[in-house]
Amino acid sequence: MDFRNYKLLNFSVMGDLRGNLVSLEENKNIPFCIKRVYYIYNTSDKERGFHAHTRLEQVAVVLSGECEFVLDSGKSREVIKLDTPSVGLYIGIGIWREMRNFSSNCVLMVLASEYYDENEYIRDYDEFLKFKGIK
Ligand code: TYD
Repeated sequence: MDFRNYKLLNFSVMGDLRGNLVSLEENKNIPFCIKRVYYIYNTSDKERGFHAHTRLEQVAVVLSGECEFVLDSGKSREVIKLDTPSVGLYIGIGIWREMRNFSSNCVLMVLASEYYDENEYIRDYDEFLKFKGIK
C-alpha cells in the first residue's frame, strides 16, 4: 500500500472589510499539540529540506508568497504548491520532503509536534527507503 501520510488543510477564514483572519489551534484545526513554531524567510532559489522525520508531524503554511513541496512516500512523489495563508500542508512521519521554487517574498511558517531533535531526522534517501521497508 502506498500510504500518503500528508494532506492539505483548508482553514476557516474569518474575513470582513478589514481583512482576513485565520486562527490555528492545537488538537482542533491543527491535528497535534504544537511544541514548536519556526519560519523561513529571505528565501533564495536554493532548494531545502531533503529529509524525512521519524517522530515529527508538521503543518506548513505560507504566510506570504509561494513555494512548492515535493512529497515522497517512498513509492510515489507529488508536488504541492502552497500559495495562500488559508491552506496548511500537514506532513506526518515517514514522508520525504523537498522545498523549492520559493518566491522572493515567501514566508513559510511551520508548526511542529516536537521540539527540534536532529536525531529524529532521516537525511539520507536510502536510509529513508529502509525506514519505509522498501529497500
Ligand atoms: P534545516 O533542517 O537544514 O532546514 P530545512 O529543513 O529547511 O532544509 O535547518 C537549518 C538549520 O536550522 C540547521 O542548522 C538546523 C537548525 N534548526 C534548528 O535549530 N531548529 C529548528 O527548529 C529547525 C527546523 C532547524
